[in-house]
This record gives sequence, structure tokens and C-alpha cells, in this order.
Amino acid sequence: MICVDKNAAKIAGLNQGILPIYEPDLDRLVEDTRKAGRLSFTCDLAMAVKDADIVFIAVGTPARAGHGDADLSFVYMAAKEIAPFLAEGAVVAVKSTVPVGTGDAVDKIIGSVRRRGSYSVASNPEFLREGAAISDFLKPDRVVIGVEDPHAQAVLMQLYRQPLAVYDIPVVITRRRTSELIKYAANAFLATKITFMNELADLCEQVGSDISDLALGIGLDRRIGSSFLNAGPGYGGSCFPKDTLALLRTAQDYGVALRVVEETVTANEARKRKMALKVLEAVGGDVDGLTIAVLGLTFKPDTDDMREAPSVPLIETLQRFGATVRAHDPVGMPNAAQMLEDVTLVDDPYECARGADAVVIVTEWECIRRLDLSRLKGVMQSPVLIDLRNAFAQDAAEAAGFRVTMIGKPARSHKDANFIAATEQGANAGISPVRLPEPGQQRGSGHGQR
Ligand code: UDX
Repeated sequence: MICVDKNAAKIAGLNQGILPIYEPDLDRLVEDTRKAGRLSFTCDLAMAVKDADIVFIAVGTPARAGHGDADLSFVYMAAKEIAPFLAEGAVVAVKSTVPVGTGDAVDKIIGSVRRRGSYSVASNPEFLREGAAISDFLKPDRVVIGVEDPHAQAVLMQLYRQPLAVYDIPVVITRRRTSELIKYAANAFLATKITFMNELADLCEQVGSDISDLALGIGLDRRIGSSFLNAGPGYGGSCFPKDTLALLRTAQDYGVALRVVEETVTANEARKRKMALKVLEAVGGDVDGLTIAVLGLTFKPDTDDMREAPSVPLIETLQRFGATVRAHDPVGMPNAAQMLEDVTLVDDPYECARGADAVVIVTEWECIRRLDLSRLKGVMQSPVLIDLRNAFAQDAAEAAGFRVTMIGKPARSHKDANFIAATEQGANAGISPVRLPEPGQQRGSGHGQR
């Protein structure tokens, strides 16, 4: 496997085992595979392409500023540049997340450069999540292959057959345009699932219901499924926000209304903005002059990615309301420093919270979930905890002396101590209570633009 990039510094780093992103265990895997001679990095496109049976295009497809549609210039440039060097019968597989019809355009671009010889263009979208990239890639729920000719299908199946057989992973073989749309549909569906739960969490807060139990109660219905039901501050990252917008743009171009997706996008943006109000409410209505500690900055745990992270609008709004913000993230602080102004970034979470009037949990890193709540409370000015990920058990946080605000949880007065005791007795009598997996343990919840 030969990987090509135009960025010489990135390639030089990779050849010394230095990765440009944080992804758990990826550095070890890259180093081992490189040392075994099965992986190399170069800026020499001709050398990498000329003997390849399959050329994957995996460049970024960022949202075009102010438009929402995907910027395909990197994909088209890659197609043009590889075209003269393609071997006879080579398959060009587009891994980047691209709108319907991009494969057709890539085919045309290559065809206009290569007037002789055969090649195929296929779609092979990637579904891995940041933070879980290795396991998601090696053991995906499915592999999707979009082809327009049997040769491309045979070549890609030859690549995937053996690894797919090991874990009995299904493969979906379809036409190129369907494969392209599958990726957007999957991301839009997941974004909608999260938004549905976020809105139900708001309702839970108003009517005295509990979003975690609700998620359990609906998630055990196999038609719904128990993953991706964690309410929070709104989804972020490099994919859901960008891909939902690009899907809407495609639908508009073809005169089709995707109203559910439209509402998902609008609701998620509004949700991220309104999280600051939760903090205001928790501190008594006004943050002017207060110090707020924010724990967790990246859009999700186990990544250093800050793209579309809910922490950014939250912090900016709190600052506009007059708060001084201190923040901590175990891995994301160098990237956060490029995006946030006037925020003191602190290496140690307890030091971050020292003297604060409230602490806000925005990303549920495992090391944050394991914080000693009594110690945390001990260093603060006021014991106010706003947990936007339900990362802590409410009982434990209250027992540590915090005034707690969570997502989608009833105010404490709704809880009846006798009822809790009775249900616990029920559990002891042999009724096994079921719990949904914690956010960090879920499958189905991968860096770079996809
Ligand atoms: C997503 C898709 O899951 C993946 O298949 C695709 O290839 C790329 O986009 P990623 O963006 O890496 O992956 O992370 P994901 O785990 O899906 O989380 C996205 C956002 O949703 C995060 O902000 C996360 O905190 C949020 N989320 C996820 C929730 O708020 N609740 C959930 O239950 C799950």
C-alpha cells in the first residue's frame, strides 16, 4: 500500500512515524505495517499509481464556504493527476464522501486525459468513526461497493473477500450512484436519530421524565436499536454537519424536499447555541463576571478534532454574556487554541476548575468521567455542575455536594425515594435491570474529511 499526499511535511512526518492527527493506536499500527514493508508514504504520484490495481481517492470534500454543497475540487484534481499514470485495467475507487454523480464526473475527467486503455471508476464509501477508526475499518457493519462494470466488482471483491469472510461482514454491491447516496443517507439518518433524542430530552426536562430510561425503553426495540440514542449538546464533527448540508443541496438541485433532514440541521444548530442558556440558568440567570470551567473541547472523545465542536459556540456565547472561560481537554487543546480566543487552556482538569463558579462537561472523555467529584468540588468557588453529556451519575454528583444540571433528567422533586427503593428491591428479587451502553462504548458512533 502506497499513500500519496502533496503535503511534503506530512509525508516526511509519516515516514518518521509521526501522524498528523490523534487516533488511538493508529501510530503503532502505521509503524508496524511500515516496518513490515507493507506501507509507505510518498509525494511521487506517478510512482505510486503506475503499478496499482486499485487507486483510492480519499481527499477532503469540505463544505464550500457559504454554500453547503461539497467542494469537489480536490477530487477532480486527483482524478486529473492520476489519469496519465493509471495501469491497464486499474480501478479508481472513490472513498471520499461525494455527492451523487461525482463518479460519473471522475470517469469523464479520466477519460478526457486517457484516450486509450481501460480503467473503471467505483464508489467505496468509508463509514468509520473518529476515535474508533481502526476497529470500525477492520470490522465494519458492512462494506458498500458501487460499480458500473463487472471488472471493478471483481477487483474490489478480491481486495475485500478475505477480510470480510473473517468476521462474516456483509457486502452491498450496487450501482455507483446508489453507493454515493448510501453514505449521505446513513449520516443524515444518524444525525436525525441524535436530534430526535435531543428534542425528547428537552421534553423530558419539562414533564419530569428521564431520557436515559427512555432511550433504554425504546432502544431495546430491535427496529430502533440502542446505539446513537445519547442526548447531548448537539452533534458536531467533520461529517454530520457537512454531509447533511450537502445532501440537502443535492435534494434542492433535483427539486426534492428532505424536510426531516432540513429540520435536523436547523434544530442541531439551535441546540448548540442554546446550551449556554443551560449554564446561565444553573448559575442563577447571569454569568457576567463569573468564571466558568469547561471540561472537554473536542466534538467527541478520543480525537483531537475540533471541527463543529459544540464547545465552541458554547464558550463564545458565555464570553459574550460576560463570563471568563477556562478550559481543559486531554488531547484537543492545541487545535482548540487555534479556534478560541481569550480562553485559558489548562493541562490539569482540577486546576482548570480551581476557583470556578461552575464546571461544564462538554465532551465525555473517559478521563473526565473518572474525575474525583469530591476533589473537583473542593477546588471550586461554587459547587455547580452542568453535565451536557450525562457523563456522571446524578446521585454521585449530588452526593459529592454539587448542584447538578443534566440533559433530559427530571428535577429531583419528581423522584420518589420509595419508588426508587422498590425498583431496587425488584432488581434484587431477580429482575435484572438493563442499561444502555455508555456513550464511549457504543459501536456505530471515525479524521480527515470524508
Ligand atoms: C460519523 C459517522 O458515525 C461515521 O459513520 C462516518 O464515517 C463519519 O461521521 P464521527 O463524526 O467520527 O462519525 O463521529 P460519531 O461517533 O458519529 O459522532 C458524531 C457526533 O454525534 C459527535 O458530536 C457525537 O458526540 C454525537 N453523538 C453521537 C451524540 O450526540 N449522541 C450519540 O448517541 C452519538
